[in-house]
Amino acid sequence: MAVDDPGTGNPDDKPHARDLADAFKVLSDANRLRILFHLATDTSGTLGVSDLASRIGISQPAVSQHLKLLKSDGLVEATRVGFHVYFTLNRTRMFCIAEMFDQMRTTVLSRCNQQLIREKNPEGPLNIGIIYYSYSGITRSLMEQIHAVCGGDLIEVQTLKKYRSFTAFTTGCIRSRNEETDQITPAVIDVSSYDLLVIASPVWAWKPAPAANSLVSGLFGCSGKKAVICVTYCSNPGNCLPILKKKMESRGVEVVNQSSFSHRDTEDPQRVMELIRTIIGAYQV
Ligand SMILES: Cc1cc2nc3c(=O)[nH]c(=O)nc-3n(C[C@H](O)[C@H](O)[C@H](O)COP(=O)(O)O)c2cc1C
Repeated sequence: MAVDDPGTGNPDDKPHARDLADAFKVLSDANRLRILFHLATDTSGTLGVSDLASRIGISQPAVSQHLKLLKSDGLVEATRVGFHVYFTLNRTRMFCIAEMFDQMRTTVLSRCNQQLIREKNPEGPLNIGIIYYSYSGITRSLMEQIHAVCGGDLIEVQTLKKYRSFTAFTTGCIRSRNEETDQITPAVIDVSSYDLLVIASPVWAWKPAPAANSLVSGLFGCSGKKAVICVTYCSNPGNCLPILKKKMESRGVEVVNQSSFSHRDTEDPQRVMELIRTIIGAYQV
């Protein structure tokens, strides 16, 4: 039976490990796995015993028996509608199981990346300047993930006059649409000693936030440097990346890679690892 509190998804936690082991016992049958696969890929939400039996090619009593076990572990849920009983996957339970593998995959990938970094730069962490603006923390969290793996300097610029949510969507958006700058601190960032720059901004009104425009203008010693640029957005990044790229190029910087991250992407270890690998790939001493 599934534990009530899925907890941290960490199998090092005893009750959780037992719970996962129970789930794997139930899953250790080819027909039950096939039933789960059909339930997972079905979009109708109306699969019953007879549908599953005909899809899998086993008898209805056998399917019922398998479903009983899957239900007892909380992997599958049943809904009665009149005379029919429909089966669906228990998403919470599946997420809980997947989370354990996600955690392990993230750790393994992170170690692989650390190894790549050591190969690229045996001296130590990458000598990169990770410079960004973040209004609500999404870009910050992405850049912190990059910094945790790649090392280097993490520099956040802030506006001297803080935006409230109303002024961000009024004044801020007008300023970003006009590609204006804000007063920021630090106003000037000396990047002459870095081997690679990582520059990031949130999308405001489909363009870089005004503070990011100031950030680019305030780079000192950037001519001839290489940069990876990155923007985070909610639903539509618009022209933010090409505009940021152009601004960087006007400062003599070569933009070697660019990527945009939706909110979901910033929490997807695979996407974050892709960005890290891009940075490692672009790094040249
Ligand atoms: C003033 C303002 C304007 C925004 N405009 C856009 C937009 O045009 N397109 C979009 O997809 N997201 C837009 N967003 C959402 C942000 O780009 C998104 O939430 C971003 O990840 C926030 O990053 P941050 O937390 O580092 O500030 C806007 C957010 C704000 C505050």
